[in-house]
Order: sequence, then C-alpha cells, then structure tokens
Amino acid sequence: SGAITVDPGYKNTGATKSAITFLDGEKGVLRYRGYPIEQLAEHSTFLEVAYLLIYGELPSSDTLLDFRKKISRHTLIHEDMKKFFDGFPSKSHPMGQLSCLVGALSAFYPESLNPNPSEEEENLTIIKLLAKMPTIVSWIYKKSLGHPVIYPRNELNYVHNFLNMTFGQITEDIVIDKSVVSAMHKLLILHADHEQNCSTSTVRIVGSSNANLYASISAGISALWGPLHGGANQAVIEMLENIKNDGGNSAKWLAKAKDKNDPFRLMGFGHRVYKNFDPRAKIIKKACDEVLDKLGINDPVLDIAKELEEAALKDQYFVDRKLYPNVDFYSGIIYRALGFPTDMFTVLFALGRLPGWIAQWKEMKANKEPIGRPRQIYTGSTIRDYVPLDQR
Ligand code: CMC
Repeated sequence: SGAITVDPGYKNTGATKSAITFLDGEKGVLRYRGYPIEQLAEHSTFLEVAYLLIYGELPSSDTLLDFRKKISRHTLIHEDMKKFFDGFPSKSHPMGQLSCLVGALSAFYPESLNPNPSEEEENLTIIKLLAKMPTIVSWIYKKSLGHPVIYPRNELNYVHNFLNMTFGQITEDIVIDKSVVSAMHKLLILHADHEQNCSTSTVRIVGSSNANLYASISAGISALWGPLHGGANQAVIEMLENIKNDGGNSAKWLAKAKDKNDPFRLMGFGHRVYKNFDPRAKIIKKACDEVLDKLGINDPVLDIAKELEEAALKDQYFVDRKLYPNVDFYSGIIYRALGFPTDMFTVLFALGRLPGWIAQWKEMKANKEPIGRPRQIYTGSTIRDYVPLDQR
C-alpha cells in the first residue's frame, strides 16, 4: 500500500534484520557476531569462524572437534559427479563449473529438497556443503591441468586438506609451509561474510522461494562471479599485469579510471558501504607483505599495486568519492604467491564466503521471511491492440 518509490541497486533500502555481521562503513568496522574481524583473522581458524557465523557462538573445543569430525565424514563427492568434470572443456571458467556442480549436489542429495527440513536434515545439508566444496574446488583445478584428482585426507585439517587436494600429487604427500596454511585461513576468514552484499542477497532471495540450499548457494556463486563483486580479485591482477606490460605507467591508468567516457574502473577500488577504508584490505595488505617475504617471492605487480594505491589516495577524484582499496585489491597477489592461477581467485572467494551464505540462508529461514519480491514503477507503453502479423 502507498506510493512506490524506487531505489536502483538498493543503495538505501534495507531488506532484512540480521544478527550475523555488523558493518560500519564510515568507521571501517567489521564484526562477525560481535567479534572484530581483526581478532578473528589473527587468532581463529576458518572452521571455527564458520561455526560462529552459522550457529551464532564460538564453539567449545569439544563442539569444534565434533563439527570437524562430522565434516570429514562427508568430504567425498559422488563418483558419478566426475562425469560432470569430464564434460567441461578444460579451459572453462572455474566459477561456471562451481555454480553448476554445487547446484548438481541437490540431485545427489534429494533430502535437501524438503522445503521444511527438520533441524537435523538442515544441519546435514550444511555439513555436506562445507565438506564437499573444497573437494569440488580442488578437482576443478586438477581437471584444468589434466591431472588426476586427489581424494580428501580426513586426518588433515580443513584448509590443509584443501591445499593438499589442490597442490598434492597422487605419488607424494606435499609439505606445505605453515605460513601458507595460515595465510589461507586468514584469507578465508576475511571473506566469510559481509552482510547483505549482492551474492548474499541473492542467496537469501532465492532461498525465500523455498528453493533448496544447494540451489540458493549456486545462485550466490553466479552473483559473486561478476567483476564488480567477487570477480574483482581476478580483474585486479589482470589490470596490474596490463599496467606492467604497458611500461608500469600507473598515472596513465589512473587517468583512464577517472575518464567518464572510458568504461575502465580501477579494479579493487571503491565500495558501496566502506567510505573510509575497508578493514579487510588493511589486514590483507599486511599479510601480503608477510607471505611474499616468507616465501621469498618478489612480485613486480605488488610494487605497481602499492604505487597505484598511493597515487589514488592522493588524487582528488578518489578523495572526493571516498574510494579506497577494497578486499580484492591485494588478495590476488597472495593467491598468486600461493600458486593459484588467476581464474581460481574468485572460486577461493566463494570457498571463504560459503559459511556466510549458509548463515544468512539459515537466518532467513528461521525468521520465516516472506518470499522476496521487489516492486517496480512501470514505464512501458500504455494499452494498445494486438496487430496481426501480416499487418505489421
Ligand atoms: N574507479 C573509478 N571510479 C569509481 C570506482 C572505481 N573503482 N568506483 C566508483 N567510482 C566512481 C563512480 O564512477 C562514481 O562517480 P560519479 O559520482 O562521478 O558518477 C562514484 O565513484 C560512485 O560510484 P558508484 O558506482 O555509484 O558506487 P557503487 O556503490 O554503485 O559501486 C563498486 C561500488 C564496488 C561496484 C564500485 O566502486 C566499483 O565498480 N569498483 C570496482 C570493482 C571492485 O573493486 N569491486 C569489488 C568490490 S568489494 C568486494 C566485493 O564486493 O566482492
């Protein structure tokens, strides 16, 4: 009832009440369930944060052990799913494969189709998703290389097992530097939730039709793929590479980003909510220096990134519009140092965001939110009569 007004991009429209993530864009504050992101990134593990987001409290050590055990029981994916991997061209984008494979899980686990699952059924689907996603992601990568897949090793922790399936060989165990495992935890934690962003809103709105969790997450993965959202981490490295190949002239590229006739934007810069700084970017920038230092990597694109950031932060255009580096600006440089190819970056974002999507879906169900259905203001033609084909 009442007049309808529109708010393209929902810049100023609240769609829900949520108790999961607190974000203050003016102050650069981000908290999961009340805990500052800085503390979680420093001291916590990814599964602990996943539990916190999904169930609301930090787990006791017994609860965490039990959560880990349950997850490790479901890390295999159905052998028939291998046929899907075989069907994709080896160079197809990992994000397209991921959304398809996650959606396909619903075909293998039809109990997820119950629109009113019991708590036990809902938890089982949540556990299966958390368990199978790293296996799917690693196998997508192995397939791109034409290498045999590595099966999950359940005695390893969640992140270590993922890295083993990704970088291990059938013939030998890999030795993974502790700093790599710890950087991976940190990155996944920093990506784990970010309140009502594009992909999360997608997950909630798809879920609000009582679509199953796998289908809802698959839709979220598709939303994340876009370069204005999670796809920015791949776009940043591609941009930095282009600048490097163009002689490292960052001033020229800054000018391009400011030119309103040029569609180019400075990737990894700007945010709908953060208007001061993105606290995730601050942590990632530091981690980036540490990881490259530890691994003895000297990546010229890091120098370009720093130069670009410094120049942009002094530039009136960026100052006026409050544009700062976001989470995607430095994350790709770390992923690259860890050995991931560029087109896997957004998939890693999805792996990190999974607990947040699940938590938001679960909250939406628990709150019994109505089906999402925005209104519009019609601007098309007024009534007119059908004209038969031979008279047009
Ligand atoms: N480079 C150049 N100009 C920019 C940029 C940029 N990266 N970002 C915003 N602007 C300008 C924009 O042109 C507009 O200028 P004007 O007022 O003169 O028309 C002004 O700043 C406000 O931008 P907007 O597009 O209205 O802001 P938005 O809230 O709709 O968009 C954004 C937010 C993140 C999509 C945008 O800043 C952007 O495209 N950034 C680059 C892509 C990127 O890094 N995305 C990752 C976002 S963070 C992680 C995630 O969501 O996954």
